Amino acid sequence: MVREHGDAVVLIGFSGSGKSSAGRELAARTYLPCYDTDEMICMRTGRTITQIFEEQGEAAFREMESAALREIPEGRAIIVTGGGLILRPENAQLIRERGQVIYLQAHEEALAQRTQRQPTRPLLRSADPRRTISALLRAREPLYARLADEAVDTTTLTPTETAEAIMQLLGWSDESRP
Ligand code: S3P
Repeated sequence: MVREHGDAVVLIGFSGSGKSSAGRELAARTYLPCYDTDEMICMRTGRTITQIFEEQGEAAFREMESAALREIPEGRAIIVTGGGLILRPENAQLIRERGQVIYLQAHEEALAQRTQRQPTRPLLRSADPRRTISALLRAREPLYARLADEAVDTTTLTPTETAEAIMQLLGWSDESRP
């Protein structure tokens, strides 16, 4: 399907799917700027995401995600999104307009293992994180899939391999990058 969209590459997917590390790797290979909405929000507020959730709640954080997306300059770039950013229909629209949307997916087991190693996600700090991941994934998978132009399964991939797979999908090589 041919879609009218901007020049950015937007990475979406659940926590632990490898968006941030693949985004950094892609930016390093392509010399494109990389915008990570979680990082933008932390820089702007001087707070961690956990603090924002605790002090202002999830709805306020979702507002900040929309604002961060709107702040990203038009043009060629890598855009890394937080796992729940796609929940707002408004954000889904903004993402589509920005560029090619790549869905990084991974098996639930891999997501659980990877997120366990970095316990910084307020939504996954539950009594039973596995169950929470399962429930969130079930609700979100159709949203990720509907938004995506392409998908990469990162279950067995390193960040470098994920970046390479994305470059291949986009028809970029180290010689013919954008
Ligand atoms: C969230 C995912 C996180 C971060 C916040 C909420 C979510 O980003 O935006 O903790 O709702 O899934 P990552 O996908 O980078 O973990």
